Amino acid sequence: MILVTGATGNVGRNLVRELLDAGEAVRALTRDPAAAALPEGVETVPGDLARPETLPAALRGVDRAFLFPVHGALDGFLTAAKEAGTAHIVLLSSDSVTFPEPGWIGEKHLACERAVADSGIPHSFVRPSIFMANDLGWAHQLGHGGIVRGAYGRAAMAPVDERDIAAVAAYALRAPRPGATYELTGPQALTQIERVRIIGETLGLPARFEEVPRADVRAKLIGHLPPPAADFLLDQLAAAEQTPVPVLPTVEQVTGRPAHTYAEWVAHHAADFGGGQRSAPRVHFSGV
Ligand SMILES: NC(=O)c1ccc[n+]([C@@H]2O[C@H](COP(=O)([O-])OP(=O)(O)OC[C@H]3O[C@@H](n4cnc5c(N)ncnc54)[C@H](OP(=O)(O)O)[C@@H]3O)[C@@H](O)[C@H]2O)c1
Repeated sequence: MILVTGATGNVGRNLVRELLDAGEAVRALTRDPAAAALPEGVETVPGDLARPETLPAALRGVDRAFLFPVHGALDGFLTAAKEAGTAHIVLLSSDSVTFPEPGWIGEKHLACERAVADSGIPHSFVRPSIFMANDLGWAHQLGHGGIVRGAYGRAAMAPVDERDIAAVAAYALRAPRPGATYELTGPQALTQIERVRIIGETLGLPARFEEVPRADVRAKLIGHLPPPAADFLLDQLAAAEQTPVPVLPTVEQVTGRPAHTYAEWVAHHAADFGGGQRSAPRVHFSGV
């Protein structure tokens, strides 16, 4: 039995699908089973990683688990997993742990990795680059005039499709290799200007990027994110304007098929962007 935590998230929902399709027995943990809307065939159980008393029942009979990194709240899960005899944990982490300066977000992921390593349970780490899914946060602006306003438009990142993160996580769960780390990116380094253009071309919408000062973007971000997280994200963009980020072959190496391109991701999310007229303004940076 494989337990998937974070099962209702961008990665977890795709991971549940991957594992079911591969014929695995899957249990999904969520704080709100009634709202989870997970596919038939998955056993959905209630549980909260921040409330350890909810976890032993969810871990009963679980030999492998996908662990969502709720910062500072993993010890209860790890203790319960040890007691349940869980043989391997795959932790969702971040490529920011490999940066010379991991920053606020990287430090939080490093603490999660340390907690898992210190548990003594065999484990592997999945370390994705920024998610393509973050760009769903542009849907509102695109639906209201077709202009995405941001800082560092020429910063080239290699965002990764959540389906590819899930595919790598599924591989890590199905062929457990203790100590393995999977660093992964999307297949192309693309500037924000280029990504907005691809959204417009793929969906046939007017779409362009407009540069605004960093301070204005920061002021908006800190309405939604802790200030150190906003600074980290802006610093990451500033660095990517100077130094191109690497594009890693991990997805193709692990899955045997190419990673999804940005245009493929946009087409997959056409309805989410088409809903821009109705969507409320938001910052979509998942999990922070
Ligand atoms: N966005 C990026 O660019 C990026 C890059 C690298 C790494 N990451 C990391 O990836 C993670 C985000 O992944 P995602 O986008 O798949 O997630 P997401 O879409 O933001 O969903 C969050 C998930 O976490 C679960 N969750 C939150 N608190 C929980 C708790 N206390 N107990 C149990 N479950 C809890 C939620 O489950 P329920 O609500 O159903 O309980 C939900 O399934 C973050 O840790 C982020 O730092 C993100």
